[in-house]
Amino acid sequence: MNLPNGPRYSRFVRLLKFIFKPLEYLDETYQRYGDIVSIERKNSPPLIYLANPQAINRIFSADPGLFEYGGNVRAKSLMTYLWGSNSLMLLDGASHRQVRKLLMPPFHHGNVNKYSQLIDNITDRVTNNWTLNKPMPVRPSIEEITLQVILQVVFGLEKGERYDRLKKLIPSLLNTVSSPASALLIFFSNLRKDWIPFSPWKRFVKIKEEVKQLIYDEIIARRKNSDNSDRTDILSLLISAKDENGNGLSDDELHDQLMTLLLVGYETTVSGICWAFYWIHSLPEVRQKLLEELNTADSKDLDKIAKLPYLTAVCQESLRLYPVAIGASVRTFKYPTNIMGYDLPAGTSLIASIYLVHQREDLYPQPKCFIPERFLQRQYTPYEYFPFGGGNRRCVGAALAMLEMKLVIANIVSNFELELSNERPIAPVRRGLTIAPSPNLEIIATGLRPQKTPVFA
Ligand code: HEM
Repeated sequence: MNLPNGPRYSRFVRLLKFIFKPLEYLDETYQRYGDIVSIERKNSPPLIYLANPQAINRIFSADPGLFEYGGNVRAKSLMTYLWGSNSLMLLDGASHRQVRKLLMPPFHHGNVNKYSQLIDNITDRVTNNWTLNKPMPVRPSIEEITLQVILQVVFGLEKGERYDRLKKLIPSLLNTVSSPASALLIFFSNLRKDWIPFSPWKRFVKIKEEVKQLIYDEIIARRKNSDNSDRTDILSLLISAKDENGNGLSDDELHDQLMTLLLVGYETTVSGICWAFYWIHSLPEVRQKLLEELNTADSKDLDKIAKLPYLTAVCQESLRLYPVAIGASVRTFKYPTNIMGYDLPAGTSLIASIYLVHQREDLYPQPKCFIPERFLQRQYTPYEYFPFGGGNRRCVGAALAMLEMKLVIANIVSNFELELSNERPIAPVRRGLTIAPSPNLEIIATGLRPQKTPVFA
């Protein structure tokens, strides 16, 4: 069989490299084997990493019926456990199309803009608690902002017992699998044993079950009050949404979509914002240019801020250099196919490698450098730049995530004089299934910019 080349490590060594040094592993395979790499798998056709934009274009624009989603059986069973079997991430074919059609409208560009004021207010509330001249880790504040945004936008929750519990439990849930070592649980099913005392998995299961119950309780409560038509949150829209036959989503379906949105949308957006913070404050010329641009806009005109070209380019470049999701979802061919001259058997799985395409020197000269200007000088196609994946599986929350990134950064950078608290380099590290800045990312707020009224206790 004419398969692409690829590394011949054992599955164990490959997984360890992928877990502990994911970007080095991908760089190494690209340099050695080029932009199509074949990974051997036990008892099944290979897994292909693809970093060729034209071939990725073919995949993203192909008939979705040619693929199955969700990777191998083991990965699928974990995802089913995490999100539920009705999760958009696990559906295929007509049922995927149908649920996506119900889910998409509230996430469209025009619709997410109505959340701008809410994002700005939440950012004000969280940063009002900052203490000047004291080093503080960036991630917890960004987590707090993003969690409040997601709980309000998705659930319409801003106070109450369920809100307080979810606000506490979601970060704990994700933190149990955030370190590279605990990410072993995701990749090695044998470690997922809840009878081992103090095992992180046991803790994970306990928190996950409580979150699940809280989501069901909220759905039931909201169905009882579903005639409150003023609500604009996604749960309300989903409760009232009907397909062309007049059918709505069941409680189980609603639960699985909400759990997916919460878990997938929160962690990714936090890491994207943290990266942008790091670059802005480690490169004085970037910060200066950004401030000059922000000074041209009225800080209350959030629509204008969200359209600022340099701010947009800074966010795009942050998601280019270290994309939070290094690959799009696994697509498995249902039929034999030919990609880049290679004949691949049915059952071959494929990952469009976001990280490797974003590192291509022919598209992004000096790919390891942070250069927002590249996005002002050139328009990239959706298969040259795709931090949110593509085709019929493209991220549902892309517009919301970009809006949040821009508004949170604009708010904080315009209001605070900030600097990194130390010179230690920040490295990309694994956080569960995603890539994030290492946890030592700390800033010091050294002062307030003139328009900010001091509100410190
Ligand atoms: C910076 C933030 C984010 C990044 C980098 C990101 C990235 C991605 C990527 C790469 C995919 C897979 C696409 C593919 O396979 O082609 C995806 C899927 C998805 N994302 Fe996001 N995401 C982000 C934020 C969000 C937010 C805020 C939400 C919702 C609140 C969300 C919900 C989803 C859902 C539901 C899917 C599954 C789509 C499907 O299978 O049809 N994401 N995301």
